[in-house]
Amino acid sequence: MQTMLSGIKPTGRLTLGNYIGAIRQFVEYQDEYEMYIFIANLHAITVAEDPAELKRNTKDLIALYLACGLDPKKVTLFLQSDVHQHAELGWILTCHTYMGELQRMTQYKDKTAKGETGITAGLFTYPCLMAADILMYDADYVPVGVDQKQHVELARDIAERFNNRYGETFRIPQPLTSKVGAKIYSLQNPTKKMSKSETNPKGTIDLLDDPAQARNKIKSAVTDSLGIIQYDPIEQPGISNLLTILSSLNGEAIESIVQRYQGKGYGELKKEVGDVVYQFLSNLQERYRAIMASGQIDAILKEGSEKASWIAEKKIRKVKKKIGFQIVK
Ligand code: TYM
Repeated sequence: MQTMLSGIKPTGRLTLGNYIGAIRQFVEYQDEYEMYIFIANLHAITVAEDPAELKRNTKDLIALYLACGLDPKKVTLFLQSDVHQHAELGWILTCHTYMGELQRMTQYKDKTAKGETGITAGLFTYPCLMAADILMYDADYVPVGVDQKQHVELARDIAERFNNRYGETFRIPQPLTSKVGAKIYSLQNPTKKMSKSETNPKGTIDLLDDPAQARNKIKSAVTDSLGIIQYDPIEQPGISNLLTILSSLNGEAIESIVQRYQGKGYGELKKEVGDVVYQFLSNLQERYRAIMASGQIDAILKEGSEKASWIAEKKIRKVKKKIGFQIVK
């Protein structure tokens, strides 16, 4: 069985973009792959996080993973900080990554281009930690949204470099992005990614938003004045984004939705998308509340981190031996 791995940072609240671009794929593939899904809390502290908020977001994230349909009997679910080997391998891989490679990472480039101050060294080197997350478990595939693809490609380069220098150690991973919905855009600025850190709440649908409010956000989504419903992300990014959201949630092909809407107006499309989002969030949040009340989260994380730690320890020993850290047999 091939291995799949992915993670999400518990910063801010999870968005519909995280669900459509990432979690939906995790759920879809959990029967076919040996699956590792974790909460990337070491990554969360690359920016200043309030401890109480981090705790709340972490718990929400695990409950949402489960509410979205991840089954802990099939998937190893764990907290990254519970498996200390991630930080250890992260350091080793940092020493096998060039400054120039990290400087080319678009997330870092965007932040510096915007003149953001207070960028931590952790934010600069985090792709090395992400490579460690992936290579630790010999992942064949890494399901992610488009924005994370570049980091998985860097992980491939680091793995190849390490293997060339020390002999076969890591499997070379491949990013996996879904055909539809690998990038969901802001409802208010449909050329920008829908993001946990967006300041305008009307642009983002959080998975824990009040469903009626979420429906209103769809109603007030920015569109265009062309008046035709077709999938054209360049000329009609807002309408194309709504079509993508609808197709991702109801499983209908975009072409078929476009057919249905020939000669119809934007208001009707927004109503259908709004209703589907409303229903999706209502069902999801009902399961989320039941999971939060059930008290099962601690046991799931404990079991997951035990399994992950066992595999991670085997890998880190192998790595240390290759590098020349082990002097006693
Ligand atoms: P993060 O927490 O920013 O995002 C989690 C996942 O959600 C996807 N995503 C989106 N997909 C479509 N449309 C959007 N608007 C959208 N916004 C976010 C992201 O592409 C991602 O798949 N560094 C990673 C977390 C991480 C990780 C890893 C992922 C740490 N280690 C190892 C994979 C493997 C991050 O910050 O994702």
